[in-house]
Amino acid sequence: MGPVPELADRARSCADRLRQAESVLLASHIDADGLTSAAIAASALERAEIPTTVVFKNQLDDEEIASIAAREEETVLFTDFGSGQLDAISDHESRGDFEPIVVDHHQPADAETRYHLNPLLEGIDGASELSGAGACYLLARALEDDTDNRDLAGLAVVGAVGDMQASGGELVGTNRAIVDEGMAAGVLEERTDLALYGTQTRPLPKLLEYADRPRIPGVTGDQAGAIEFLESVGIQLKADGEWRRWVDLSMDERQSVVSALLKRGVNRGVSADSIDGLVGTTYTLAEEQPGTELRDASEFSTLLNATARYERADVGLAVCLGDRGDALARARRLLANHRRNLSEGLEWVRQQGVTLESNLQWFDAGDAIRETIVGIVAGMAFGTPGVKRDRPIVAFAEKSDTERKVSARGTPALVTQGLDLSDAIGAASRAVGGDGGGHDVAAGATIPTDQRMAFLDRLDAAIGEQIA
Ligand code: C5P
Ligand code: C5P
Ligand code: ZN
Repeated sequence: MGPVPELADRARSCADRLRQAESVLLASHIDADGLTSAAIAASALERAEIPTTVVFKNQLDDEEIASIAAREEETVLFTDFGSGQLDAISDHESRGDFEPIVVDHHQPADAETRYHLNPLLEGIDGASELSGAGACYLLARALEDDTDNRDLAGLAVVGAVGDMQASGGELVGTNRAIVDEGMAAGVLEERTDLALYGTQTRPLPKLLEYADRPRIPGVTGDQAGAIEFLESVGIQLKADGEWRRWVDLSMDERQSVVSALLKRGVNRGVSADSIDGLVGTTYTLAEEQPGTELRDASEFSTLLNATARYERADVGLAVCLGDRGDALARARRLLANHRRNLSEGLEWVRQQGVTLESNLQWFDAGDAIRETIVGIVAGMAFGTPGVKRDRPIVAFAEKSDTERKVSARGTPALVTQGLDLSDAIGAASRAVGGDGGGHDVAAGATIPTDQRMAFLDRLDAAIGEQIA
């Protein structure tokens, strides 16, 4: 029996169907969650001796589904997408083009199919309680034979963290059950620690300099300030001529830095609520080497995004499947490039600012930000001055001469007030001849460029109604 009784029946029927397949085409989404979804499902299928071919898609639109239908594989496993496109998928199913198995966590379209594993169908939140990779983990557990597949829990946590499902400070719901299994299997460790990005790989001063949620007065954005702060706590900054990293510190040293950071925040007027965000639950992949991007779930997920969002999903998949040679070296080079693009993108938003509407704020990056990362930049922009947290942010980037990619991000507080970006973006995009969907807190679409203002008007009105 798997870890989640509510979804066990769905997982079992998907697994039973897969066991009957001669071969499987696995189609997955090109982000960290999509990559880990594919890696988990492909590993489990391989262990079950079911031949599998993996393909990645930026988006599953009608054209992409048709290209999948044209292939010879009769059984198609969609992971981390597919639910939102069930209408188009079930059209192909009824024509006998393929038999779909959908393992996803996005808002389902108005259609059903026999083999559908999605937390939202059982009242489990697909934005915060289970990711695509987590859903694939449940499938893998249902497929188990000799090995029990619990070693795949680490990748499931990387997927969930990559989809920002731990943004409340820790993983909850079904994700929580998966963490417990991973710890029992010895592949995961969970601890309360400094909740800054880069504890494994960043030099200490950089780790603090880049802290932006919350911002630490005199430290954030100030390298000299960060160094001075660390020295004032008595931390030796270098060892053998190399910058020390957070992982290199003793527990006592970590404790002193955390206390001093909290004190600095309180003394300089950071609200108690936001200063609490400095400490959170971190997830460590116990079998990975300390001090590498793969050791920490959050750093691992960024490494994967750095491959998949630049047409190198093959590299990220190879890393997930265990390649610590060429693929990892390649992924690290892609990561350097991704980091540069993110910081340039954020800088662009800072310089250009956002336009405020009644119920949302937006910017159009044109071709200044790649459409595959504009959503990540939009999410990060919440931390920058000039961007409000009381309404969602909507970002546009050029997709083609005639089309704009839309990425929208909200906050958990706005969702509590009624925000459902998936619903609002889906309706507004379809009304102007585009299409979209996603989650309540994060959604995206493609629209005709000349419909941008009409789209924004509709979206603004829809969000106004949701939050009223
Ligand atoms: O397609 P997928 O589900 O993988 O994409 C999820 C996206 O939603 C991620 O890019 C993530 O950044 C965003 N998200 C978010 N906050 C959440 C949940 C998801 O920004 N609480
Ligand atoms: O692309 P972006 O990161 O903004 O996507 C946010 C969420 O919206 C993801 O879960 C993605 O799968 C979903 N999305 C969608 N349809 C689109 C674009 C994005 O369902 N056309
Ligand atoms: Zn996902």
